[in-house]
Amino acid sequence: MSRYAINGMGRIGRTLFRVLHERGQVKRLIAVNDLMPKENLIYLLKYDSIHGTLANTIQPTANGFSIDGHDIIYIQQPEINKLNWQPLQIDIVIEATGLFTHSTEMQQHVAAGAQKVLLTTYSKDLPSTIWGVNHQPISSFVSPGDCTINCVAPLLQIMEKAGGIESVHVNVIQGYTTRQQLIDAPYKGLRRGRAAAHSIIPFEVNIRPVLETIFPALSGKIETMSTRVPIPCGALADISLILKTKTNADSVNELIQQNAEFEMKNTVAITFDPIVSSDVLSNPHSALVDGALTKVTNGTHAKLMAWFDNEWGYSNRLADWLTKMSR
Ligand SMILES: NC(=O)c1ccc[n+]([C@@H]2O[C@H](COP(=O)([O-])OP(=O)(O)OC[C@H]3O[C@@H](n4cnc5c(N)ncnc54)[C@H](OP(=O)(O)O)[C@@H]3O)[C@@H](O)[C@H]2O)c1
Repeated sequence: MSRYAINGMGRIGRTLFRVLHERGQVKRLIAVNDLMPKENLIYLLKYDSIHGTLANTIQPTANGFSIDGHDIIYIQQPEINKLNWQPLQIDIVIEATGLFTHSTEMQQHVAAGAQKVLLTTYSKDLPSTIWGVNHQPISSFVSPGDCTINCVAPLLQIMEKAGGIESVHVNVIQGYTTRQQLIDAPYKGLRRGRAAAHSIIPFEVNIRPVLETIFPALSGKIETMSTRVPIPCGALADISLILKTKTNADSVNELIQQNAEFEMKNTVAITFDPIVSSDVLSNPHSALVDGALTKVTNGTHAKLMAWFDNEWGYSNRLADWLTKMSR
């Protein structure tokens, strides 16, 4: 049984902890590393403003904490080159700080005794592999992209296979994250430094190069952006497509439905309920297409609207990756 460690117990580290617990795999989690006091981590694991209160018992232990009797070691080591995974026999490190994304930094986890590293974002120098789209073959270092590309890429794949795409515009409307500011502050991306809960904030996103690598025929034909909105979690991808062949909204929805039932099961889903963003919270899919909002104008101009929980959906993909990477 592979043994896991998480480096960085922020939003994604803690959500993955919950997903592993929900899937009955938390026993594989041997150690976690973060900077906060242990009592604070235990508190944040138990009480979560988005995903609710965990019913299970989480208690401090001499070396960390336990959940329902399973001990997890808590380390507080800010320097990656001082971590030591070997005595803990860690096989896979989930690198969830968002800080150490270059392969030379991932290599430090291997030097510390781990076998494999799963990032929770893009790598600075390694290609991304997106679940359901290009997730074969895998290597020791996996860079699974972010929540946005995990929503958009499977849908582009479906439409590309079905009849082909001429060009794409994506705008991902998403709640704020810890990489924004609560009140106005200096920031290298100027708009990113504006008060997150106070404004609709246009954002640049970096998914275009990865999409162009996965879909080379679309090189130079993709534009992407994000719009951050004053909610703490949840997202809606607005995907406009110029298609190569004529279709209609019902046919597009049928195509999505078929993929949701077979090839993209667990990754893509479709709903016709009139949901809002809070209804997608704790949904495990990468993309939940809102079928009632699917539009096709003049046969070839299509719009797909897809919901996702940027924390829970993405953490489910991380758990899928862990299963695939495990012995
Ligand atoms: N949030 C999302 O919706 C989402 C979705 C997909 C992917 N991601 C990606 O996942 C990564 C993490 O995002 P997040 O939202 O979970 O961020 P986060 O909440 O800020 O979590 C990062 C955690 O790592 C801790 N940390 C900082 N430096 C550390 C160090 N040297 N050693 C150990 N722990 C350290 C942070 O502590 P401090 O708070 O004290 O700095 C924090 O608890 C980012 O790359 C992000 O792009 C996020």
